[in-house]
Parts: sequence; C-alpha cells; structure tokens
Amino acid sequence: MSSVVLVGAQWGDEGKGKITDFLAKKADVIVRYQGGSNAGHTVEVDNEKFMLHLIPSGILYPNKLSIIGNGVVVDMEKLIQEIKGLEKRGIDTSMLRISSRASVVMPYHKKIDEIEDRTNKIGTTKKGIGPAYSDKIKRVGFRITDILYDKNFKERFKAEVRRKNHLITEFYQEKGFDHEVLYEQILQQAKAIQKYVADTSVLIYTAINNGDKVLFEGAQGTLLDIDHGTYPFVTSSSPTAGGACAGAGIGPTNIDRVLGVAKAYTTRVGEGPFPTELLGEQGDILRNKGAEFGTTTGRPRRCGWLDAVILRYAVRINGLTDIALTKMDVMDSFPTIKICIAYKYHGEMIYEFPESSDILEHCEPVYIEIPGWQQDISSITNFEGLPENAKKYIEKLEELLGVKSSLIAVGPKRDQTIVLENIFA
Ligand code: GDP
Ligand code: IMO
Ligand code: MG
Repeated sequence: MSSVVLVGAQWGDEGKGKITDFLAKKADVIVRYQGGSNAGHTVEVDNEKFMLHLIPSGILYPNKLSIIGNGVVVDMEKLIQEIKGLEKRGIDTSMLRISSRASVVMPYHKKIDEIEDRTNKIGTTKKGIGPAYSDKIKRVGFRITDILYDKNFKERFKAEVRRKNHLITEFYQEKGFDHEVLYEQILQQAKAIQKYVADTSVLIYTAINNGDKVLFEGAQGTLLDIDHGTYPFVTSSSPTAGGACAGAGIGPTNIDRVLGVAKAYTTRVGEGPFPTELLGEQGDILRNKGAEFGTTTGRPRRCGWLDAVILRYAVRINGLTDIALTKMDVMDSFPTIKICIAYKYHGEMIYEFPESSDILEHCEPVYIEIPGWQQDISSITNFEGLPENAKKYIEKLEELLGVKSSLIAVGPKRDQTIVLENIFA
C-alpha cells in the first residue's frame, strides 16, 4: 500500500502542480479532493506550460487514473473547457473520472461570489467557491448525480433559481437568471461530462487494495483552510490533509504519508494578515524572480520571507511527514536571507500560530538571518552539488520544523527537482 497526500503548507501557490506532476510519474492514480476552479496549478513540461484548475496535474502522463473527488466543487463549463483545451494539445483525457457525488458550481454561485466580494472583501477568485460550498452545507446544492439521475431535479432547480433570483434582483438589485435557459445549459453540460462520471471512492479504494500508488493532490493551502486558516480570509473548504479523507471517500488508515509543499519564501493572494510581507524592493525581487502573478486571476501575489511559525503549524495540522521545498532558485541573489521563527505580540513572544486573524495582524515577525549563496542553482541536480549556504538554509528549516525535506525544486521544469528521499518508497 502506498498513498500520499500532498498539501500546500502556506497560503497556496506553493508549486503543488509541479510537485504533483513530478510524483505522478511514479503514481498510478492522482486525486483532487477539494476546492474547485479557484485553484491554478502550473506544470511545465519541456517548453510547454499547462495551467490546470480542476483536472489533477497527473493528467499529463498517459495511463494514469485522474480523479476529481466528491469534495471538489465542479464548474462544469470550466471543466469542459479544460478537457477540450488539453485534448487540443494532444493530452489524452480518457482516464479522467469525476465523482458523481461532487457538487456543482452554478452560474448564480459565480454571480453571488462576485457581488458579495465587493462588500465583504476577502479578495476571492470569483469562481463561485464560497456560495457553492455554502449551498452544499445548506443542502440546497446540486450534485452531478442529481442533475443526471434525479427525476425531481428540474423542480428543485427551478425553486432554487427562484430563491437565488430573489436575492440577486431584490437584495442586490442586479440581473437574475432565466431558470429554463439555465436548466437546459446545466443539463447539456452534465451530459457532456457523463462519460467521465463514476463512483470514484470505489475506484480509489480498489486501487489502494491492489497496491497501486495513489497521490492526493491538494489545492489551496493550510492557511486558507476554513477551520485552520486565517479566517475569514480563507477559502470555503478543507485543503488540509484531513480534507483528503472526506473529499475522496477514503479512511485515514489508507494514508501512509503527508507531503507538505512549501516555497522557500511566502506568498499570498487576496486580503488578510501576512506578518512577513515585504512591501519594498525585496518583495519586488521575490515577485519578479518568482513570477508571482496568479495562475487563476493574474493578480500580483504578495511576497515575504519564509515563516517557520506557519510551517510548524502546517506540520501539526496536516501531520506532515515530508517537505517539498520549492523555488529555492528564487533566493539566489540575496546576500542574506531571513526566516521568521516567532512573533512578538504586544511585547510578548508567541511561538504557536495565533487563533485569530486580528492577533496575527498585530504580530511582528522575529527573524534569524542567515547568509545567502548568491549563485545560480537552477541546474543543480543533487543535494551535494548545492552551495554550502543553500544546504545550511535547508538544514536550518528541517531543524526548525522537525521534518525532513524530501524534494527540493530549483526551477519550474520536471528535471529541476532534487530528490533526497523517494516519496513512493
Ligand atoms: P500551485 O497552485 O501550488 O500549483 O502553484 P502555482 O502553479 O500557482 O504557482 C507556482 C509557480 O511557480 C508556477 O508558475 C510554477 O511553474 C513555478 N514553480 C514551481 N516550482 C518552482 C521552482 O522551484 N522554481 C521556480 N523558479 N518556479 C517554480
Ligand atoms: P492553488 O490551488 C492561492 C484565495 C483567494 C482568496 C481566498 C478565497 O492554486 O494554490 P475563493 O475564491 O477560494 O473563495 O478565495 O483564497 N485562494 C487561493 N490563493 N492559491 C489558490 O489555489 C487559491 N484558491 C483560493 O485569493 O484570498
Ligand atoms: Mg496556484
């Protein structure tokens, strides 16, 4: 048995797509378990760049089962576009499977997300994620199976569109939806993806019992988790490792390892506290060298030094067994590099990640400073070949977190990955 959950250890965009693609070579099944098209996972293969939003990053390898689990909220229009886009580029999508239990993001969810983010400013991706998960929890959402097989779907849908129109037109004074037009559109989209729809929990369980290697590809990151993140500046799902069980339909005993993907610095998109944020020239260096512009929305990402308080928190919340440290090459030019090891809050030292965003907002980072390596490391292929100061940076981080680094990324491409330990042992 060999199954690995891969999670973002920070605020998302840690390079999960690249690491998933790298590990997918050895995996048999790759599963997305939560989130939706708010995710933007970039994979570079040779000179081609792929941006994946809903489809697991394992799709670029032929003959791997790529699964969209029940915990994902599926925007069918976007999914169809993504499938077509991949097919056009010669990628075979016949091994894609979508959970019949996955909830659907409706056009009215996107509209409500867009309207509500104007006043309740979270800085969402406007992909309808919050409203879709809210409806799922309120039990007024629609799953793929409802659209395809429930004979009461049309009636339920009509009633729901009426309720949503009331909110959109009466309260928000915007244009509503024609339920007949929307119904036809949704039905056609569901039919277009029907050939991929399956009871995916069965597929995953069978694969695990057959000894296949299963990789659960997280989206977003630990600090965007609805329970454990910087609430309310979070997404509406559970990107943390625990979310993999509920979102894929497996038990915790089926998970062997949890790999946390962390950037060698920190970024975040959208609103919310960020103690190590660099607003001046150093932030610009990270943003430009790291090409920190959103894959989904194109927004510039906020950048700052590595925060070990956050990463220790990610170790605890996810039960991390391994770290994949990405974008080490982005740190190449700094004469010295800072790592935040604690916060100061009203003169008091804090070592655990605070429960409240308001406290975090007023936390000052306490740094250690270590020498940089000031050398291009992007073509180094083994740990021994790294400059001494780069090794020391990695070792310092391992010491602070108590977890080993198993993979180091020194560039966006597949071969720019240093393996210290085999994840699928
Ligand atoms: P994800 O959402 O976690 O999959 O991350 P994104 O794809 O949104 O953002 C990560 C970006 O960094 C992408 O453009 C990747 O191609 C790129 N990337 C990943 N690993 C590395 C690395 O080690 N070095 C550099 N320079 N870029 C990387
Ligand atoms: P990947 O998988 C970075 C952020 C948004 C916003 C908050 C809520 O590429 O790492 P939402 O649309 O989910 O309701 O927005 O969460 N966010 C992400 N930030 N990477 C992501 O995904 C994100 N998905 C959502 O910017 O602050
Ligand atoms: Mg991303």
